[in-house]
Amino acid sequence: MELVIAEKRINTTFNQPNNSKKANVFFCDKNVTLYKGDSTEKTLFDRPFADLIVTSPPYNVGIEYNSNDDTIDYSQYLQFSRLWMKNCYDWSNDEARFCLNIPLDKNKGGEHSVGADLTKIAQEVGWRYKFTIIWNEGNISRRTAWGSWKSASAPSVIAPVELIAVFYKHQWKKTHGSKLSDISKEEFIDWTNGIWTFNGESKKRIGHPAPFPKELPYRCIKLFSYVGDTVFDPFAGSGTTLLVARDTNRIGVGIELDTNYCELIKNRLGQSLF
Ligand SMILES: C[S@@+](CC[C@H](N)C(=O)[O-])C[C@H]1O[C@@H](n2cnc3c(N)ncnc32)[C@H](O)[C@@H]1O
Repeated sequence: MELVIAEKRINTTFNQPNNSKKANVFFCDKNVTLYKGDSTEKTLFDRPFADLIVTSPPYNVGIEYNSNDDTIDYSQYLQFSRLWMKNCYDWSNDEARFCLNIPLDKNKGGEHSVGADLTKIAQEVGWRYKFTIIWNEGNISRRTAWGSWKSASAPSVIAPVELIAVFYKHQWKKTHGSKLSDISKEEFIDWTNGIWTFNGESKKRIGHPAPFPKELPYRCIKLFSYVGDTVFDPFAGSGTTLLVARDTNRIGVGIELDTNYCELIKNRLGQSLF
């Protein structure tokens, strides 16, 4: 495929991830490929293809997804996280970056430092740590209980933020790809400040139980990838990352487990986000 952007011709020959028979293509056009499948399945793809991963995995906080149980034992959840993050590592090109949107803490079904635990596992499977962005979710209140009201006996503290932990595969400096960045001066100054403030997305509006707002992949894609790069989401959900990738002249590749959510992505791809 050839994109013509800012008078430049960019060859975006997408290195298709597959000969594997396990990956089931649900939707494919010149900018986006959606696979219906399980991102913990190691043999889904047989070669590296991703330049940037932007994803939000299930948080294991009791969300009612159609096809996966979001209330599993925490040790099982960590094992699940290890499997898919290792697969992503294997499916990534050498200079790939990995933006992982996760909670800081979890207090449903036991208190856990999810952000710290998943950051550690990512490094154990090979990812190199770069930095963490704090997403200050303006319209979300995580406050469900105070603990002991006005008493030091057992108060509860919860931060209304999520994390975007950023990793890379072998080398942070990008030397491959189109070398064309499409970020403005104002965006660059604003987004390199690691506290991002924007609202969460409405589940009702999107028709999915846990969509992230398009602003999240938009910033990650423009800050961390070149035009023409391949952007991958192993938990595509309602397809937000794929839509933003397409509408910013990148290639989008996604995996989603659930057929209804795959249908939702296909329908959303019929619209332009911007
Ligand atoms: C937090 S949501 C992702 C939402 C997405 N960022 C969006 O904006 O719509 C997690 C998604 O992962 C999917 N999922 C759960 N387990 C999966 C697996 N093993 N492989 C692929 N997708 C899975 C769920 O069906 C759900 O749609």
